[in-house]
Amino acid sequence: QASPPPQRLADFETLAKRKLPEHVYSYYRGWAGDGQTARDNCDAFKRYYLLTRVLQDVSKQDTTVTVFGSVLDFPVVIAPTAQHSLAHSEGEKATAKAAASMNVGMVVSSWTSYGIEEIVEAAPQGVKWFHLTLQKDLARNKALLTRAEQAGCTAVVLTVDQPVARRLKRKGKLAVAPDNWSLPHMTFDDAPERGTVSYGEYIYSSMKQPITWDDVEWTKTNTSLPVVLKGILSAEDAKEAVKRGLDGICVSNHGGRQLDGVPATIDVLPDVVRAVEGRLEVYMDGGVRTGTDILKALALGAKCVFVGRPVLWGLAYKGEVGVRQVLQVLNDELRVAMAHTGCSKVSDITPKLLLRQSCVGCH
Ligand code: FNR
Repeated sequence: QASPPPQRLADFETLAKRKLPEHVYSYYRGWAGDGQTARDNCDAFKRYYLLTRVLQDVSKQDTTVTVFGSVLDFPVVIAPTAQHSLAHSEGEKATAKAAASMNVGMVVSSWTSYGIEEIVEAAPQGVKWFHLTLQKDLARNKALLTRAEQAGCTAVVLTVDQPVARRLKRKGKLAVAPDNWSLPHMTFDDAPERGTVSYGEYIYSSMKQPITWDDVEWTKTNTSLPVVLKGILSAEDAKEAVKRGLDGICVSNHGGRQLDGVPATIDVLPDVVRAVEGRLEVYMDGGVRTGTDILKALALGAKCVFVGRPVLWGLAYKGEVGVRQVLQVLNDELRVAMAHTGCSKVSDITPKLLLRQSCVGCH
């Protein structure tokens, strides 16, 4: 008899941990430094409480949102994460099928194990954005932007929070490339000889680091798609993004995987939203684990949320079905939270629904 699907996103992590080799689990879960930021991304949501609204007619619910002209069934986009084939042989093809079947968005990483064309062929219906890690070779970047457009991606997500090679804290570091290694969007022409450096050093050698606002301009002029900057935490950077005509930003600290000690994303979201004055779309990611987290992020001004690690746990647990189950839990929980807060549609979700726990030193 088939076991019922897990009820909480945390349960998917437990199940995935049992299935994954330790070094893969540890790589997916990994964080910078002591993991303060990675943990706080989740904990910070708990410092906001929801104020219920009773006696509202919430018998009909509409959870759809429109992002860059595409309608999503609920305000979730799968965050760009690398190498899904380490979790499941079908890799990003399975993830994309699940995303399409639930009609949420998916940001296809530059670091996928399958090429963008194969992923789109596996799931032609879903909304896909292409995540660009800028490589040293500009011609390669240009070729990737063209491929993404031709494959039907509807936005480009440029990651801007990796000025230096990172040092991820995890167990069982990969000294050599895993057997099922393939990164079809990346090029390694300038890389040190395989075997002379660690796998991490080898693959990061292709990246342009640091990138600057000039590279953002380059990206904008080399694609006709809307461009979203991922990795913004400050109001100042958000204002600069508005000034330079960006289409969106994702408030993100990379799931706490870059610099430990930066704030939880939900805590800086209101400042960023205020700074952009509605002139570009704001998304957020980091620590979204429940439907109430989604509601809180939307109440503070995010158009939708990106979800990272939980999707990998679902994928490792049961491939396409597992990712669908993760998305279903989020959808169910969001609907319940909306009903209790008197929201029939996403635009009913406002800051008035939140009470923030006061903390020592807050003013
Ligand atoms: C990531 N993330 C990421 N971000 C990005 O811009 N480009 C990338 O290639 C990757 N790769 C990646 C791999 C893995 C294994 C993880 C866990 C994360 C960060 C990701 O897009 C997102 O910002 C965070 O994962 C969001 O936090 P949560 O949902 O994992 O808490």
